[in-house]
Amino acid sequence: MCGIVGYTGQADVGGILVSGLRRLEYRGYDSAGVALYADGDSELTVVKTSGKIVDLEASMQAELPESKPFSSMGIGHTRWATHGAPTQINAHPHSSDNKEIAVVHNGIIENYADLKAHLIADGCTFNSETDSEVIAHLVQQCYQGDLRAAVTAAVKKLTGTYGIAVISTKHPGTIVAARSGSPIVVGLQDDETIVASDVSAIVSRTKQVIFLNDGDIVTATGGDVEITSMSSTTVTRESTLIDWDVDEIEKGGYDHFMLKEIHEQPAAIATGLRGRLDETEGTVRLGGLRMTPMDMARVPRMILAACGTSYYAGMVGKYYFEDFAGIPADIQQAAEFRYRNPIIEPNACMVAISQSGETADTLAAVREGLMKGATVLGICNVVGSTIARETGRGVYLHAGPEIGVASTKAFSCQVTVLAEMAIMFGRTRRLSASVGREMVRELARLPDIAAAVLEREAEIKVIAEKYAAAEDAFFIGRGYMFPAALEGALKLKEISYMHAEGYHAAELKHGPIALLDEDVPVIVPVPDLPDKEKTIGNMQECRARKSPVIAIATEGDKEIDAYCDDVIRVPRCQEFIAPIPVVIAEQLFAYYVAKARGCEIDQPRNLAKSVTVE
Ligand code: F6R
Repeated sequence: MCGIVGYTGQADVGGILVSGLRRLEYRGYDSAGVALYADGDSELTVVKTSGKIVDLEASMQAELPESKPFSSMGIGHTRWATHGAPTQINAHPHSSDNKEIAVVHNGIIENYADLKAHLIADGCTFNSETDSEVIAHLVQQCYQGDLRAAVTAAVKKLTGTYGIAVISTKHPGTIVAARSGSPIVVGLQDDETIVASDVSAIVSRTKQVIFLNDGDIVTATGGDVEITSMSSTTVTRESTLIDWDVDEIEKGGYDHFMLKEIHEQPAAIATGLRGRLDETEGTVRLGGLRMTPMDMARVPRMILAACGTSYYAGMVGKYYFEDFAGIPADIQQAAEFRYRNPIIEPNACMVAISQSGETADTLAAVREGLMKGATVLGICNVVGSTIARETGRGVYLHAGPEIGVASTKAFSCQVTVLAEMAIMFGRTRRLSASVGREMVRELARLPDIAAAVLEREAEIKVIAEKYAAAEDAFFIGRGYMFPAALEGALKLKEISYMHAEGYHAAELKHGPIALLDEDVPVIVPVPDLPDKEKTIGNMQECRARKSPVIAIATEGDKEIDAYCDDVIRVPRCQEFIAPIPVVIAEQLFAYYVAKARGCEIDQPRNLAKSVTVE
């Protein structure tokens, strides 16, 4: 979603903002802009464009006079349109009437229409259709010589979510930033400070960062940083050292981040298993849950909440908790959970699954769960993210940064962590040591299983290219293959724009089968597992309607060849592990379909990496 970068220091402000914005491109955006200050000027210089960062750079080159010494501070933004089309005028930064103040904003101001009406009545002129512009006018209205005080007073009038950065000609070298519901991270260096919505924009200059909490306002001047609360008292926040390098957010020789991240899965899964598996006891150790065996044994119900790909990982997790631990489990679409007054019984345990740790709906579900007294665990990838901090307990994926908008390695690591969690819970209940040991041994094989799927890449590419011209596709599956089918369809549609739907294999004949014909391929994860024969029956139903059937089947399973047109092979493994190799095969299939169709794989249209609005 939208991205913020602000810089205060002595280096080339414009260059630093542009390279920071480039690091945020992966989040998805449709316009961009910067606000800069040249010593002595009475107005800020704002350059905006309704395109990509290359267009912004070109506009900066064309519009910024070379002779002008831009220095000391600036702010930049990538916008993902919510209020108003992705035009140059609606791009951020937005300025106050007197052009002394500029603001960049992530989030949504829910009361902007009221505020705008009042500001217009007070004589303000609005240029854009955005909700964000009200902030610039409010800061000007509240300004009485102290920028921090003005920002504090302005944000008190806002309802909704915001991460903002503000500069003013009256305060050269200063950036004031604030957050409520939308992240702001502050990068610390001796004589410079970078403020951003995401550490990716910071990590090339410093790895020492502070994550702001909701209600924090930071005033950064060169290398000095002061954080205050809404009541203007100073607050102390611990800094964190980021444990990954800038080369992890480079493509490393791959054509796309998505392909790189697909290939990172064996290593990412291995990281998520390291030090956690206890083969002797047939269990898993996850200290971050901060739950005793007695706590786990008392849980009457697991509630999993997530969105998108994380939701499908949660579906697999539901099966795990029921199968391994005998705990009734529900997977909830997070947005639905927050608005329907869910019943949470005493001792219930909730698991919020979110790669970014910033998804607005999942965060709201976490807050609802905490409010209703549940033990809320987070499964996040981004260290220091809001969900990770607000839950205060859970498991990090440690999958490394996921830059491609389509989630890949996060899914397999989420599923791995859910299996670990369910085994751990299971051992406090009905899972025996001997079955636990078997499962732990199978988990330990997972990196090799994932690597074996990647070895099939060339074959998957050929099959993907064969079907790349289709306009519609179905994915069907049963049991553990049902969430795998849903995830396969999501991956395909989001990056290739081919209309794809995921269904339970038994559900097809209750309606969607009407759409099948020779132009509609059906992709069927059907490993050599207990439900295979039933799924084969469904494959035959598809072929009877002339649909080409592509099976994702177990290596060496020759029986399947008679029921499909093409086969993608995955290694033999236990049933609970199977969603991971199958989904990796689907990721490669989607990637090569999208590539054959000439799509912009890492930043699909309309999508954002981190969905921080409802
Ligand atoms: C799909 C995808 C999205 C995310 C969803 C939740 O490839 O990436 O569906 O899974 O937006 O995001 P997180 O996991 O960050 O909460």
